[in-house]
Amino acid sequence: MYNTLHTYLTDNILTVTINRPDKLNALNKTVMSELDEVVTEIYLNKEIKGAILTGAGPKAFVAGADISEFQGLSREEGEALAKKGQDIFFRIENAPKPILAAVNGFALGGGCELAMACHFRLCAPTAKFGQPEVNLGIIPGYGGTQRLTRLVGKGKAIELMLTGRMMDAQEALQTGLVNYIIETDELLTKTREILAIIGEKAPLAIAKIIECANLADEGGLGDGFLYEQEAFGECFVTEDMKEGASAFLEKRKPQFKGK
Ligand code: COA
Repeated sequence: MYNTLHTYLTDNILTVTINRPDKLNALNKTVMSELDEVVTEIYLNKEIKGAILTGAGPKAFVAGADISEFQGLSREEGEALAKKGQDIFFRIENAPKPILAAVNGFALGGGCELAMACHFRLCAPTAKFGQPEVNLGIIPGYGGTQRLTRLVGKGKAIELMLTGRMMDAQEALQTGLVNYIIETDELLTKTREILAIIGEKAPLAIAKIIECANLADEGGLGDGFLYEQEAFGECFVTEDMKEGASAFLEKRKPQFKGK
């Protein structure tokens, strides 16, 4: 039993719903450790042939890491936070069974990073994608600087990360971030249909395809992930990060000083 996740196994497909709708399903410590557990369940439970990650409520898939847990983190704690997030998301990306994101609303910051760690993505017409960390005086730390760049190309990725702007579903489709836009009330059904098709194939071949595709994608970016962790940690000792997180929680515009 999970506190922040709702899970449902039917026809060999595990649907995992991140369930903190009042906080737009933000990834706090509990959600992260429960995601870690559910990924282990996906790896080990032979009845599970594929999984779907989605968010509870009408507004959000996941609106990012929980900003209220950022206050007072040291550089080392910031770096450790990024490492933990990256490790869990690597396990999703390297799972031997397909894990798809059904993006039902905002997928921002850690939410966009979570969706990008999945093998591919479907979204509702209302979905919004972005890496708005720059608004808080930090950078993406759960693999976003690396995966966004691979998925949408460097120019688009840098633009999105520097401006912090959101992409709508159409733009996400055009850039290749999502494979399909599906009406909200059909999103889970369609995602299950795709997983059912994959579920009829040879499991060992599925696992190898995922492994090979991940290898093709690597291109020496391992160092990029490590560098991202360190840079994320460094952001946590800046005055601007404290100002950015406080401004979000106090619902005001941040005043950044470059310190
Ligand atoms: N961390 C913690 N709490 C969050 C959150 C996050 N990433 N995203 C949303 N919430 C909380 C809000 O603080 C608010 O809580 P409250 O009702 O107790 O005040 C609640 O979720 C609803 O969010 P709200 O901002 O009121 O909704 P909105 O529709 O006006 O705006 C967003 C939606 C997604 C644009 C806005 O919530 C937002 O910008 N979130 C942060 C996105 C972000 O920077 N993510 C990266 C984090 S590293």
